[in-house]
Amino acid sequence: MRKPLNWVIPLCFLLAYNGVETVSNQPYRTAFHFQPPKNWMNDPNGPMYYKGVYHLFYQYNPYSAIWGNITWAHSISYDLVDWVHLEHALSPTEPYETNGCWSGSATILLDEQPSILYTGANSKNQQFQNLALPKNRSDPLLKEWIKSPQNPLIAPVDDIDPSNFRDPTTAWLGQDRLWRVIVGGEIGGSGMAILYRSEDFVNWTRSKSPLHSSNETGMWECPDFYPVSINGSNGLDTSVHDGLIKHVLKASFNDTDHYVLGSYIPGTDTYSVENNFLSNGSDMRYDYGKFYASKSFYDSGKKRRILWGWIKESDSEGDDTTKGWSGLQSIPRTILLGESGRQLVQWPIKELEKLRTKQVSFNDVDLKSGSVFEVPGITAAQADIEISFRLSGLKEAEEMNSSWNDPQLLCKENNKALGKGAIGPFGLLVLASKDLTEQTAVYFRVFRNQYDKYVVLMCSDQSRSSQREGLEKATYGAFVDMDPLRETISLRSLIDHSIIESFGGNGKACITARVYPKIAINQEAHLYAFNNGSMDVRISRLSGWSMKRAQVVPIQKRRKSSIG
Ligand SMILES: *[C@@H]1O[C@H](CO)[C@@H](O)[C@H](O)[C@H]1NC(C)=O
Ligand SMILES: *[C@@H]1O[C@H](CO)[C@@H](O)[C@H](O)[C@H]1NC(C)=O
Ligand SMILES: *[C@@H]1O[C@H](CO)[C@@H](O)[C@H](O)[C@H]1NC(C)=O
Ligand SMILES: *[C@@H]1O[C@H](CO)[C@@H](O)[C@H](O)[C@H]1NC(C)=O
Ligand SMILES: *[C@@H]1O[C@H](CO)[C@@H](O)[C@H](O)[C@H]1NC(C)=O
Ligand SMILES: *[C@@H]1O[C@H](CO)[C@@H](O)[C@H](O)[C@H]1NC(C)=O
Ligand SMILES: *[C@@H]1O[C@H](CO)[C@@H](O)[C@H](O)[C@H]1NC(C)=O
Ligand SMILES: *[C@@H]1O[C@H](CO)[C@@H](O)[C@H](O)[C@H]1NC(C)=O
Ligand SMILES: *[C@@H]1O[C@H](CO)[C@@H](O)[C@H](O)[C@H]1NC(C)=O
Repeated sequence: MRKPLNWVIPLCFLLAYNGVETVSNQPYRTAFHFQPPKNWMNDPNGPMYYKGVYHLFYQYNPYSAIWGNITWAHSISYDLVDWVHLEHALSPTEPYETNGCWSGSATILLDEQPSILYTGANSKNQQFQNLALPKNRSDPLLKEWIKSPQNPLIAPVDDIDPSNFRDPTTAWLGQDRLWRVIVGGEIGGSGMAILYRSEDFVNWTRSKSPLHSSNETGMWECPDFYPVSINGSNGLDTSVHDGLIKHVLKASFNDTDHYVLGSYIPGTDTYSVENNFLSNGSDMRYDYGKFYASKSFYDSGKKRRILWGWIKESDSEGDDTTKGWSGLQSIPRTILLGESGRQLVQWPIKELEKLRTKQVSFNDVDLKSGSVFEVPGITAAQADIEISFRLSGLKEAEEMNSSWNDPQLLCKENNKALGKGAIGPFGLLVLASKDLTEQTAVYFRVFRNQYDKYVVLMCSDQSRSSQREGLEKATYGAFVDMDPLRETISLRSLIDHSIIESFGGNGKACITARVYPKIAINQEAHLYAFNNGSMDVRISRLSGWSMKRAQVVPIQKRRKSSIG
């Protein structure tokens, strides 16, 4: 339940914060995504739930909208929707972090002791792992953090490349009472999760073998390692090892977050994967669009695992300097093993629904071949929309060439064909101008493969998102592991001015896009459903909501309150 905030901040304070008056009026600022008031933000760091408060730290440049001078900024929340910015938790003060306090994770140690492990980069960009503890752990806001006098705890010795050694995970405890942590690295051309053990969280010993590695990838940034329940609906604490579970290993490389599933034997620290990173057309990603350097945490209050990811801009560095900011965090997502056991599923946290306001809703509307239908009555630039499609005439689905195993490429090719399919393209035109010259199409197509099974492709096409030049206008694609004979094809999109987070097949395939329309901003943005396939489809259900603005404010403005 949401703890009511007992103070209300006049909007004028918000607008006047640090003299960046214009920032709130910009068309690309978001309304319900997490953003600092200004400047550069990248990876989410050390998310945790402690004494009823959610903490989010993040990589932040206090001085400009481009990367540099990296500190750990710190914000807190009672519901993961409204946020209060606190003072920075970690800033570079020591020789081992002259070049920045880089990413890391939080671990709640025995006796409810919160801790942070993070990477420091020295003046030569050599990387070290360090510990920080809260100054006063009775204070639920954990405002001040003290760096361990024993830092740096882990140095890049032996064969470790000092410039590729970073981003410690949340640690987990074995039955032998030793803590484990992995650190991302690259040795001899292989990306890997280097494993360390410790009894006291200060003296760490490297394991002979990494937890896992791959010679198909480069450096693994921001690894994450955690258990998921095989048939449960709850998330699991990182130190859970028993029961019907699998372990997820995520690594960030090549601008994307990839994951594998496997079984972990805690006694020997062996991890056997079901399929490897980038293997054989079965590359699994948290999100097939813009989503990087993510981190999950266990929310012990609601027994769920929550995932945050950094969503970069798709405009230029010059644009960011002009805007005065760069970077978003995704909407926090609950993450679980899907019913098939083959992949993870994600869904926006339930709390987000409290921002839903004016609603439009209907059932059973036919979308004839070639039709476009405006979703009326909601603020199309700031909305949450759920839509499900029922298909008839599936038999007409085109046969798929067995060489079509790259969904992104398939979406691009499909784009060239411009709606010449049988079943689809059908879906949404998001942040569209009235004349449709600007539009981001988020859509599906259905094919039949050589085994007579249906294959559902989901695409997000940014090629027509903006008439502005100098933007990255990628097309993204993913296969949705579902059977359209038995299930309706569903799509949920969170639309927030310059970001569209889309969840296909109830969270089986996620695609996030950053777009910067020139015309389709604020009241000029429209939302349509469309069907360019030759077969009709039916919208079995549509619900859309205008979204309210979340409160994301600095603590300085809340001095009169009971907090702070
Ligand atoms: C980092 O901070 C220094 C001053 O402390 C400043 O001169 C420099 O421009 C900053 N770099 C970036 C990228 O903001
Ligand atoms: C620690 O925090 C608690 C709770 O906010 C507060 O009552 C106490 O005075 C703090 N202790 C110190 C030494 O600041
Ligand atoms: C650190 O731990 C290792 C392995 O348990 C042990 O051999 C070593 O003596 C410890 N070092 C210190 C300084 O405690
Ligand atoms: C890469 O790793 C695989 C599996 O561990 C191994 O079979 C293969 O020989 C390696 N390739 C190279 C070039 O080292
Ligand atoms: C998970 O499956 C096992 C064995 O099939 C069963 O005993 C257990 O009750 C299931 N748990 C849940 C939460 O469904
Ligand atoms: C990295 O991404 C690029 C662009 O998407 C792609 O061409 C390349 O094959 C990828 N590399 C690996 C190792 O996946
Ligand atoms: C690669 O995929 C093909 C077809 O899906 C399969 O037959 C083959 O065994 C796979 N190879 C590996 C190494 O997994
Ligand atoms: C499948 O695609 C390949 C490569 O584009 C092409 O050579 C082949 O003819 C196609 N096969 C069929 C049955 O269309
Ligand atoms: C749908 O088809 C029309 C007519 O061919 C075309 O102009 C439009 O770009 C297509 N839209 C999408 C999203 O494929």
